[in-house]
Amino acid sequence: MDQTAPLIDPFQRAITYLRVSVTDRCDFRCVYCMSENMQFLPKKELLTLEELDRMCSTFIRLGVRKLRITGGEPLVRRDIMTFFQAMKLHLDAGTLDELTLTTNGSQLARFAEPLAAAGVKRINVSLDTLDEAKFAEVTRWGRLQQVLNGIDAAQAAGLRVKINAVALKGFNEDELFTLQEWCAARDMDLTFIEVMPMGDLGNEDRLDQYWSLKDLRARLAVRFTLTDLAMRTGGPARYVQLEETGQKIGFITPLSHNFCESCNRVRLTCTGQLYMCLGQEDMADLRAPLRASEGDALLEDAIRRAINLKPKGHDFDYSRQAVDGQMSRHMSHTGG
Ligand code: GTP
Ligand code: 5AD
Ligand code: SF4
Repeated sequence: MDQTAPLIDPFQRAITYLRVSVTDRCDFRCVYCMSENMQFLPKKELLTLEELDRMCSTFIRLGVRKLRITGGEPLVRRDIMTFFQAMKLHLDAGTLDELTLTTNGSQLARFAEPLAAAGVKRINVSLDTLDEAKFAEVTRWGRLQQVLNGIDAAQAAGLRVKINAVALKGFNEDELFTLQEWCAARDMDLTFIEVMPMGDLGNEDRLDQYWSLKDLRARLAVRFTLTDLAMRTGGPARYVQLEETGQKIGFITPLSHNFCESCNRVRLTCTGQLYMCLGQEDMADLRAPLRASEGDALLEDAIRRAINLKPKGHDFDYSRQAVDGQMSRHMSHTGG
């Protein structure tokens, strides 16, 4: 096998984006992401920070240009800044284009400065509502003010902030323009996400929660002139510009408009499993080949074999008045 060939999957998609979940733990319990009583992995199952470094460095050698650190909540992993600093070396060397993270914002007051120092330029902060009581309801354990303080700290440190809001029918529909205005006033981009059927849906009904972004977009268009942008950030979001405010709004539409054909990413869990698609069970263990030898040849080989098994896309579907394509694993397992 050509050891320098880039990672290309069976559908001719180049894999250049690695999402790395560094912990399955979180200080919140968002209702669409975790159950209230989560069983977390014993610490000894986790890859060490050195092993995470080796994994990511190998992916970068194989052509990955963008790293997004996720969780759980990535900033609750002990000593995580050591890992960011190690990844900065790839930015400095020009072998990595972007180092970023998706966070619930709770720890940003503490970590914004060191993140900026590690070469992080923009971050995604998950925030579905600006109402304190609703925030407490959807995150179960979160406090809105703590996240707002975190966002302040991030902006003060010079980080560009994008807000990620899961669109939830009957929950934040009435906040569409509140969120939009708040982001415009603070010069933050805003992305809406359609709720996906992940995790134990026991007493939750995704169909009841589902708010199609087609509808959300139509509501925005009543008030604003929307211009579709060709701009991409490497993820699945498609952006529009609101002409009246100049701000960008992104749409992540796994349900109403499938974007899998342009998928460029895979996901590494904190135990070294590689998930080839968010919406499928297919995964490959990379921890065993990593630990089997000091050299990286076995690992590289295992990565290439895994990419060869990347499925075409997810099967999430609500169109037949039923939830289809559901994944039993929680979103927190792969960090979205
Ligand atoms: P940027 O474009 O760099 O801002 O990142 P992103 O939008 O890819 O990342 P982010 O972590 O903010 O993810 C936002 C949402 O997109 C999360 O809910 C993810 O689960 C979802 N998402 C990311 N990639 C995929 C994917 O391949 N398939 C599906 N169905 N959802 C995805
Ligand atoms: N559907 C859609 N988005 C989800 N997220 C977590 N669970 C779900 C779900 N079931 C989002 C979080 C965060 C990102 C990593 O994934 O809000 O922004
Ligand atoms: Fe934690 Fe994010 Fe999941 Fe909420 S969505 S429980 S903040 S990992």
